[in-house]
Amino acid sequence: MVEAFIFDLDGVITDTAHYHYLAWEKLGNEIGIKIDEEFNETLKGISRLQSLEKILILGNKENDFTNEEKEKMANYKNSYYVSLIENITFKDVLPGILELLEKIRLNNIKIGLASASKNAVKVLNNLELTKYFNFIADAAICKNSKPAPDIFLMAAKGLNVNPINCIGIEDASAGIDAINDAKMYSVGVGDREILNKAKFVVDSTEKLKFEALIKLFEVKN
Ligand code: G6P
Ligand code: MG
Repeated sequence: MVEAFIFDLDGVITDTAHYHYLAWEKLGNEIGIKIDEEFNETLKGISRLQSLEKILILGNKENDFTNEEKEKMANYKNSYYVSLIENITFKDVLPGILELLEKIRLNNIKIGLASASKNAVKVLNNLELTKYFNFIADAAICKNSKPAPDIFLMAAKGLNVNPINCIGIEDASAGIDAINDAKMYSVGVGDREILNKAKFVVDSTEKLKFEALIKLFEVKN
């Protein structure tokens, strides 16, 4: 029996994955590192500082900055990102997500959030979706970020459910690894090749249908 649905945020509930990309691209331009969409895929689901490290390695600049300078760069990226998410509203909820949340709630199944973003609460509030979530895992106190299962396990614990009875939904390859490692049923949204370790993949959020997901979960058990 499905006890909970646990969602990633950026790229699943709203298209903030694109804003993260724009903000890293802006920082990259200023330090002379070109970030393209393909490289950006590898940043999805990864924490802010880890993303910065990856970008510096990409540009062979990993030894060029002090920790203090890296902190400043991460803050710079975040300020721009925060300015981009300032104006998001309920209209920015991706297609099908509201209907899915409504149905989950109607069926008395719990809903959790497992995002690596420290801006998650702000984004959910701007989208007016906070009321649907029974528990929001706090990325700020999560030790190991995705692909480690920690944030999904933290959400299951907060919801007081067994991870094996959870459906996790993600747009990042690192996130699918995290869900699988947490022993949850993994659902990917996006490119089938990139998300090839997911148990089930849809190419867009409007294809996330409550009844179909429940059926898939039951068949696997
Ligand atoms: C999510 C996104 C990543 C982002 C991370 C940290 O996992 O997919 O692209 O880097 O959150 O977000 P933050 O808002 O804390 O910088
Ligand atoms: Mg994501």
